[in-house]
Amino acid sequence: MANHTRAAVMWEKGKPWEVVDLGLDDPKEHEVLVRVEAAGLCHSDDHIRTGDSPPRYPVVGGHEGAGVVEKVGPGVRRAKVGDRIIIGYIPTCGVCRPCLAGKHNLCDNGLHAGTGKMFDGTFRMHSGDTDLGGFCATGTFSERIVISQDACIPLPDDISFELGALLGCGVPTGFGSATKTANVRPGQTVVIYGAGGIGMNAVQGAALAGAARVVVVDPNPMKRTASMDFGATHTFETHQEAFDFVKEVTWGALAENSIITVGVTDQEVVSQAFDIIGKGGQVTLTAVGNSAHNTIVLNGNYMIGYEKRVQGSMFGSLSPLLDIPRLIDLYRQGKLKLDELISNRYSLDQINEGYQDLLDGKNLRGIVVRSK
Ligand SMILES: NC(=O)c1ccc[n+]([C@@H]2O[C@H](COP(=O)([O-])OP(=O)(O)OC[C@H]3O[C@@H](n4cnc5c(N)ncnc54)[C@H](O)[C@@H]3O)[C@@H](O)[C@H]2O)c1
Ligand SMILES: [Zn+2]
Ligand SMILES: [Zn+2]
Repeated sequence: MANHTRAAVMWEKGKPWEVVDLGLDDPKEHEVLVRVEAAGLCHSDDHIRTGDSPPRYPVVGGHEGAGVVEKVGPGVRRAKVGDRIIIGYIPTCGVCRPCLAGKHNLCDNGLHAGTGKMFDGTFRMHSGDTDLGGFCATGTFSERIVISQDACIPLPDDISFELGALLGCGVPTGFGSATKTANVRPGQTVVIYGAGGIGMNAVQGAALAGAARVVVVDPNPMKRTASMDFGATHTFETHQEAFDFVKEVTWGALAENSIITVGVTDQEVVSQAFDIIGKGGQVTLTAVGNSAHNTIVLNGNYMIGYEKRVQGSMFGSLSPLLDIPRLIDLYRQGKLKLDELISNRYSLDQINEGYQDLLDGKNLRGIVVRSK
């Protein structure tokens, strides 16, 4: 039976999001239909608008979300009707080579992230004759979506849908960038460039991992102030100020780790993050830039002489099914701040307003909540 949904669509790059009615197919084999209750406004969806990281257009935006399973297709084992779930933007199969190697964040199921195709190569959302995919094969800026069962992560009853949405991307991506990809150790000096929805969780991760100094660089004073509540020890408006500070307090040894979580990565911030680490140090690159240009241009001789590393990070190198429950436990123990990350709530119709607030630096995380 055909269903309908209202969804925020990007028809082509450079346009505003348009909220329209779409036809929605029933879930096919191994798929579920989800009523989305909350969706986070991550900067990654803005890369769709700018075309920095272009998907197949038109596309339904959103990849952070939580909701309730309303229908299941044949052969579904990982969820049932009525289940509360976090929507995983990397559907993890558990049996591909990266999954078997323990790298669930790199599951081969990520293949259709940019097109939003389902695994059988077809689409579930339609506008007349036009097929639409959801970003990361999800599309959480929609009242209802069809996703793979592999994207279903159980959401416990004591955790709200809003927090569930944050746990779908921003929290694990930032937290894991520090604790897993950067492998921050007690006593280290860590520098985080950009304290937004992702970076604020890198701050939390670095602090919980025992870093002696969690240094934040962000031009936005509100983010700098907020980051002190999330575990930052020092904050600076510019890289130069942070560099002078780190050089002085480490007696010239510089930082062990730098983590890039700015809105849009460019060569400048990568060079800054490279300069601020010392011997054996690592730059962790989490923030996305323009796919058409090289964002990493560095002096290889310094890399050799100082044995520096530059390491990409996808979903903070974490495993959705294994690590999200751990993050929930940290929250339950009062060790991880989640409620404080939500700075504004929007209806689906206010999606462009929400993204303008993100670009204006007003939000730690904005959330789209389902209208009652
Ligand atoms: N690798 C992954 O798995 C993954 C997952 C989600 C998001 N991302 C990417 O992470 C990045 C951050 O996303 P977000 O939602 O936190 O964005 P955001 O807009 O909430 O935060 C970005 C922050 O960076 C700050 N900033 C901008 N330029 C800066 C600079 N030159 N130096 C220091 N700070 C600067 C801004 O003031 C803001 O506070 C985006 O590029 C997003 O696409 C990556
Ligand atoms: Zn995201
Ligand atoms: Zn897999």
